[in-house]
Amino acid sequence: MTAALRIAALRIGVAGLGTVGAGTLSLLRTNQALIAARCGHALQVTAVAARDRNKKRGVDLGAARWFDDPLAMAADPGIDVVLELIGGSDGIAKALVETAIAQGKHVITANKALIAHHGTALAHQAEKAGVVLAFEAAVAGGIPAIKCLREGLAANRIARIYGILNGTCNYILTTMRESGREFGDVLAEAQRLGYAEADPGFDVDGIDAAHKLAILAALAFGSEVDFSGVYVEGIREVSALDIAYADELGYRIKLLGLARLVGDGIEQRVHPSMVRAEAPIANVDGVFNAVVAEGDFVDSILTEGRGAGAGPTASAVVADLIDIARGIRLPTFAVPAGRLQRLPSLQMEHHEGAYYVRLMVLDQPGVIADVSAALRDARISMEAMLQRGRAPGEAVPVVITTHSTREADMTEALRRISALDTVLELPRMIRIEAL
Ligand SMILES: NC(=O)c1ccc[n+]([C@@H]2O[C@H](COP(=O)([O-])OP(=O)(O)OC[C@H]3O[C@@H](n4cnc5c(N)ncnc54)[C@H](OP(=O)(O)O)[C@@H]3O)[C@@H](O)[C@H]2O)c1
Repeated sequence: MTAALRIAALRIGVAGLGTVGAGTLSLLRTNQALIAARCGHALQVTAVAARDRNKKRGVDLGAARWFDDPLAMAADPGIDVVLELIGGSDGIAKALVETAIAQGKHVITANKALIAHHGTALAHQAEKAGVVLAFEAAVAGGIPAIKCLREGLAANRIARIYGILNGTCNYILTTMRESGREFGDVLAEAQRLGYAEADPGFDVDGIDAAHKLAILAALAFGSEVDFSGVYVEGIREVSALDIAYADELGYRIKLLGLARLVGDGIEQRVHPSMVRAEAPIANVDGVFNAVVAEGDFVDSILTEGRGAGAGPTASAVVADLIDIARGIRLPTFAVPAGRLQRLPSLQMEHHEGAYYVRLMVLDQPGVIADVSAALRDARISMEAMLQRGRAPGEAVPVVITTHSTREADMTEALRRISALDTVLELPRMIRIEAL
């Protein structure tokens, strides 16, 4: 490169040196020359911040200056870009991002909770300050899901976006299907193997997937990020029996996040879904994530890959860094923040689709007639009914699938069915998706 073309290195401050922070440092070091060639100049980590200076992190911090206080690092004039790799929807992570933006620094974060809760406000702040706020790593780890929507599919009207957005849940559901074991047992094993957190609630209760879905929906539909509008149900209630029945009926059970435009509003939901076993997304197994976007000209695009872990997440963080180094400046959510629409969220009672219902009933004459009458009275059209084995006077499972019906009617039918003396447990209901 000639002297005239030589540009000063981009000076980076990394806050958070855990899985993602250390992974990012390691990637930047390993691929240093390649990245410098692609950017036209070097990327230099000049400062780092974390809680414990003495912790062994398995990465060389080089000559980077150490900050105990990430906010002081964000205010340091020797830094051009701040990486927020701490986590949490509020507290230090939010203060750090706000401080960095206010100081005129570009910000990259892997923090889905922060963006799901405060994305719209932060996008306004960043655009007002003329800096980049980027979060490729916040959704589906190594899959370039955000770039795909914001850049690759920018010419399309997106009607629907959906995906497997949580690797822990996908691992648990896959293992349950392959081994026939129950949720609690597989969760405990996942925790031992390091695939699930000691406190697994964020993952298995669907919150983490809902954070990511809210971000994807904003990008897909040009709407404000609306995490509170996401209907969320996790996977704790999925049983080995339902997984076995799903198999028998030609389905797989996946924790899906789905968002689509309905009328003037937007439907956003995360819950266990039954999908046809031959659908591409049904075959995304283990810890893998996948995102499907449906555009009016491109049709359907599926991207699949690792949704977490040091390497894949670092890959996404550094992709954002390279964009900044290359001088790429795009609106945070694909349209300028001032043009993001506030779209009403569709309430779940208005959702329409097919359903799977499993009952445990007393095996005696008249039970099926009572269940059928409850469905008829709630205006539900049954597609199929399955009863395996006979055990007069004992509990037996009965499985029903329905044609497309309104959720409000299904809720009413389940209320009626639960009230029958011969129905021994709360019915299990799983939505069936036509994908
Ligand atoms: N792990 C993944 O696979 C993954 C994937 C996608 C996105 N993310 C997101 O990436 C972010 C980081 O996740 P992670 O798994 O890397 O977390 P982690 O391993 O727990 O690391 C968190 C880091 O933040 C530092 N930290 C915490 N509180 C701090 C404070 N008050 N001041 C300064 N530093 C503080 C910790 O310092 P010490 O080390 O000194 O304790 C630690 O280095 C989160 O937003 C997460 O949702 C993670």
